[in-house]
Amino acid sequence: MQGSPESTRSAEGGTVTLVGGGPADPGLLTVAGQAALAEADVVVTDRLAPLAALDSLPPHVEIIDVAKIPHGRSTSQETINALLVEHARAGRRVVRLKGGDSFVFGRGHEEVEACREAGVPTRVIPGVTSAISAPELAGIPVTHRGVSQGFTVVSGHVPPGHPDSTVDWAALARSGTTLVVLMGIRTLAAITAALVDAGLDPATPAAVVADAARPSQRTVRATVGDLAARVVAEQIGAPAVVVIGPVAAL
Ligand SMILES: C[S@@+](CC[C@H](N)C(=O)[O-])C[C@H]1O[C@@H](n2cnc3c(N)ncnc32)[C@H](O)[C@@H]1O
Repeated sequence: MQGSPESTRSAEGGTVTLVGGGPADPGLLTVAGQAALAEADVVVTDRLAPLAALDSLPPHVEIIDVAKIPHGRSTSQETINALLVEHARAGRRVVRLKGGDSFVFGRGHEEVEACREAGVPTRVIPGVTSAISAPELAGIPVTHRGVSQGFTVVSGHVPPGHPDSTVDWAALARSGTTLVVLMGIRTLAAITAALVDAGLDPATPAAVVADAARPSQRTVRATVGDLAARVVAEQIGAPAVVVIGPVAAL
């Protein structure tokens, strides 16, 4: 990536680099991501990013927290886009640090488009997505020979049956592969009910991995039939990844 046209700085010298920070643990930040952070003048960060990686940055680095806390304070996407462009146009090397991978439910490409429309050189450094790493950190492989030949990652933010839902939950119930749901804790009861209504065996193994890669990491293993009740009983909250399929029993 070094020296590529994408990494050259604008006439004013500024750049924006999107860094996928992985799931919270700075040890899971890539070497390229660490290098970008080490050169940053400004870091614009989310709450699910590996915030401990910012502790070692020199004091002159400006850190802007644009955390979008559910039902709490938030920064609009337009404001974030404008911040990135403004700082880059002022000649700064801007790192946009996100949790997981920037292009997996991360709105990363919207930020790339905004920067490119503004003529700001951008670069994207992939990250370790929670969709795969959260199950993995709990010992659950999303595929396993003889058990699951694939996996699908969907957002549970919009529940089944909602007019805005574009996910074919019935097709997922029949897929015979692993289903990974992000942002699906609030809607978990509706999701598992839709899958069972569509023919998925309620005895299918399922798991939820919360706070993956943090000291507070917790895993609940259950079945599709009782997962939602177990999550409520054990007071599991976001951020959490739901895994449905026989691999969840491994
Ligand atoms: C807006 S999405 C961002 C996903 C992120 N771009 C990624 O690739 O992991 C936020 C969701 O990711 C999942 N997530 C992110 N970090 C997590 C973590 N450390 N542990 C468990 N789930 C996590 C949760 O489902 C959370 O609601």
